Amino acid sequence: MIFEQIRVGGYRNFSYLIGDEKRDAAAVVDPSFSPQRVLEIAQNHGLRIIYIINTHSHGDHINGNHYLRAKTGAKILGYEGRGSDLDVGVKDGEVIELGTLKLNIIHTPGHTDDGICILVEGRLLTGDTLFVGKVGGTDYGSGAKKQYESLHRKLLVLDDSVKIYPGHDCGVKPSSTMEEEKRSNPFLLQSSFEDFVSLKKNWLQYKAVHAIR
Ligand SMILES: [Fe+2]
Repeated sequence: MIFEQIRVGGYRNFSYLIGDEKRDAAAVVDPSFSPQRVLEIAQNHGLRIIYIINTHSHGDHINGNHYLRAKTGAKILGYEGRGSDLDVGVKDGEVIELGTLKLNIIHTPGHTDDGICILVEGRLLTGDTLFVGKVGGTDYGSGAKKQYESLHRKLLVLDDSVKIYPGHDCGVKPSSTMEEEKRSNPFLLQSSFEDFVSLKKNWLQYKAVHAIR
């Protein structure tokens, strides 16, 4: 697999390029602020982009979609029911074929209702659901509850060896593993939903006390 994590500016956003070794097919995840640069990197690898995949519909993730679709003819793929901007809607558990690769779609509502994570060959692209040492922003009510359920029922059941690739470089390092997150992410260490929300509410204070950037 060809896999690139690309810094694209904005709010320390990451785009990802995923391509199969035979160079038959590639996908860009969240083209974001620098679709031209992502396209150049794909071209340098000799990759043909057939999907533009969005982890969710926030503007900082989707704003390169139309440039990239115009340049490549790739289809825009996201969680079903998101809206008319999608060419392909996917649902939880769906498997997308990308040449010889299989992309497993995991619906992870919380940060947004249309959030998905993408699991491919032991790498999990987590969008704004899970960051390195943090989680994506939510309200303190139904959004937080959905995120808590997504994290515990959909992500923490994955193997410890799975590598984590978030939608923003806002953690202590750009990528991690499920084992590291289970062991050290303070949000995942909370033993109840109430404690999880309490940490969200007191995050600034927690960060200051624990010298987290
Ligand atoms: Fe977001």
